[in-house]
Amino acid sequence: MRKPELRSAARDRLTEDQFFTERAQVLASWPTGAEADLDEAVAWHRTLPEAKAAPPLFRQAHRRARPLVYPRTGVASLTRHIGDVQRLYEAGAELLCTHADSYTRTRRFEAGQQALEESLRRDVSLLNGVPVVNYGARRMREVVASTPIANQFRQGTPEGRLASETVYAAGYRSMLGGILGSVPHMRDMPIGECIRNWQYVDRLVGEYESRGVPLHREYYGALMGMVMPPSLMVTCLVLDALLAAQQGVRHLSLGLNNNLHLRQDVAAVGVLTSLVREYLDRYGFHGAEATPVLHMWMGPFPPEPARAYSLITLGAYTAAYAGTAGVIVKTADEAIGCPSTEANAAATRLTRACVEVAAGQHYPDSDALAAETAQIELETRQILDATLRLGDGAIGPAIEEAFAIGYIDIPLAPAKCNAGRAISVRDADGAVRYLDCGNIPFSDEVKRFNADRVRDRAAARQADASYKLVLHDFSAKAFEAPPLDLEVAVLA
Ligand code: 5AD
Repeated sequence: MRKPELRSAARDRLTEDQFFTERAQVLASWPTGAEADLDEAVAWHRTLPEAKAAPPLFRQAHRRARPLVYPRTGVASLTRHIGDVQRLYEAGAELLCTHADSYTRTRRFEAGQQALEESLRRDVSLLNGVPVVNYGARRMREVVASTPIANQFRQGTPEGRLASETVYAAGYRSMLGGILGSVPHMRDMPIGECIRNWQYVDRLVGEYESRGVPLHREYYGALMGMVMPPSLMVTCLVLDALLAAQQGVRHLSLGLNNNLHLRQDVAAVGVLTSLVREYLDRYGFHGAEATPVLHMWMGPFPPEPARAYSLITLGAYTAAYAGTAGVIVKTADEAIGCPSTEANAAATRLTRACVEVAAGQHYPDSDALAAETAQIELETRQILDATLRLGDGAIGPAIEEAFAIGYIDIPLAPAKCNAGRAISVRDADGAVRYLDCGNIPFSDEVKRFNADRVRDRAAARQADASYKLVLHDFSAKAFEAPPLDLEVAVLA
């Protein structure tokens, strides 16, 4: 096997010198960076009430198996954003999110500034989130001060260093974003650079942590958001968790996609929960706590409200029956774009109602659940262990190498670092399998299992086990009568 040349210095824990030298550059890259003074920020965090803490929220939610309900939100105007956050708090949101806009996620702060000014002038949001860097840490504190509970920032990007500095200095206690979860948002960036950027952010969290400010980090494992193989999602999340713990992160949540197959989704949560603990312990991170969370279906949404609400409801119940620590809420506006405040509040109220109805219940043990759990675990260990044997023992370089040789291969992710050979598809039962394993290091037994399950579906549908099934799954499964079924019905 060809050993790829490592293009970056994505070694493991950053030295003190590396971190603080890089930090000076990051903060100097935009005028508001000067507002992110670590000592002053720590002093501000200390003035915040106990109810603003994030780590105990996730810990307790996981312990009592009643997921925290949190919706996404973010518009250009800070005043409007504060109004939205307060409305969502009143609707039952248990963690208040601020979404980054696309300019922030691509570090086009000049363009973001123009769009912000134009938005304010016209009283519409021309941004799909809050330009937190343009506002700066001091203004962002207004959001933190506007409600009694914890705030989270969410950014899907391979380079969120300054935005992270800004929100943590503002008093946010939680943030979504990470390495493997950024691959869907990347095209040209080498994976090593993405690793290095997030190592910086996690190291920043470690700095707050060592100064007595416990911060929470969430990692995104839903990847391309639809029909994602559980073993690949779990692998990516465990690797993100190990890299984060290495930089000093102590409170993590790991988010899976709701694939809309209740039994397999519950099994995936179980495998994630046990394997992340096992691997954190194996690397000596006994003090790092990791909880599972669930994203409601991240694929295409139906425009009809009743069908959208059926997906939202399934996500809520799946999170509850699987015993996750949180569920990230979708809305009936998802087919159109960013949700209205009303749609967001309605979905939040619905999700709260579902998880409260389901409280105390869990998906029943069964042979089928045990078999699915064993399968996901087997597949995950094969990818994880093969990956961790690469990189001469350093996890960052191991991930770079794993991408280069296609051990980690995210179906449909367009990033240049991604091999792009693996393809996922549903089986006859609706569970997610591999149609093509690419170079993912599976045993023959695992490959055969996946091939058999896909063949069963093709046979049931009188179709070829081909990309046509994939197209069907990615476009229609969630909200239309399956066209292949219709075809069969007509033929019969
Ligand atoms: N407000 C609300 N939801 C948002 N999303 C992205 N940006 C925002 C925002 N500013 C949602 C999308 C999608 C998910 C990735 O995040 O609608 O559901």
